[in-house]
Amino acid sequence: MRKPFIAGNWKMNKTVAEALELVNAVKGPLADYPGVTQAVCTPFTALAAVSEALKGSTVKVGAQNMYWEDSGAYTGEVSPVMLKELVDYVIIGHSERRAYFGETDETVNKKIKAALAHGLKPIVAVGESLEQNQAGETEAFVSGQVKAGFEGITAEQAKGIVVAYEPIWAIGTGLAATPEDANRIIGQVVRATLATIYGDAVAQAMIIQYGGSMKPSNVKELMEQPEIDGGLIGGASLKAEDFITLVRVSAEVRGL
Ligand code: PGA
Repeated sequence: MRKPFIAGNWKMNKTVAEALELVNAVKGPLADYPGVTQAVCTPFTALAAVSEALKGSTVKVGAQNMYWEDSGAYTGEVSPVMLKELVDYVIIGHSERRAYFGETDETVNKKIKAALAHGLKPIVAVGESLEQNQAGETEAFVSGQVKAGFEGITAEQAKGIVVAYEPIWAIGTGLAATPEDANRIIGQVVRATLATIYGDAVAQAMIIQYGGSMKPSNVKELMEQPEIDGGLIGGASLKAEDFITLVRVSAEVRGL
């Protein structure tokens, strides 16, 4: 049985004080659901304070990005060596980074390898645009992103990688993919592609989240889908009550 994983992606939101307020509000209630892996991916500026505040809790901490070199003259960047003091997870290749900050499948692949080399667990985001979706290109595009992102990564390493399928048109729009569509793309495209590379046993063991307007009103039907192992949550992760609901409902749906 795959353990469901609910991760908040706070994006560029919350000061250190606001971040502490949020994690202090969720950590008590979330302790009731150890059957669900829980994480908050905060801005870099809040990571030190948040990781300190969450010590000993069930909530893990993640970053939203990193560079692939260990150190050096890369003004403004943050390395895996720096992050591993503070976090367990790092989101890599979020569609906003691909769209606004020039990330490509190649940089995503370098970052995944660098994260793994330092013991960080990557959450690798893939997903198609509205145009690609409407043109019937979703399957080929998402499968291509998975293949390129995992280039040169071993089966043993792949088992420790989380994939988040996030259709770009569903992110921040309030308009989630239908549970059936999300389930189909995750199972028949993302997991199936991983199975062609690593074999079925490895692909079946890997955690694949859905992301894109997952919220209290749709989490139950999404989590009822067998291929959806959790969510990467933007907007709804910024409110304590909503985030707790997402974790609670995920636990209930899976009988955990
Ligand atoms: P959303 O964002 O939940 O606000 O749609 C999800 C994401 O971008 O990870």
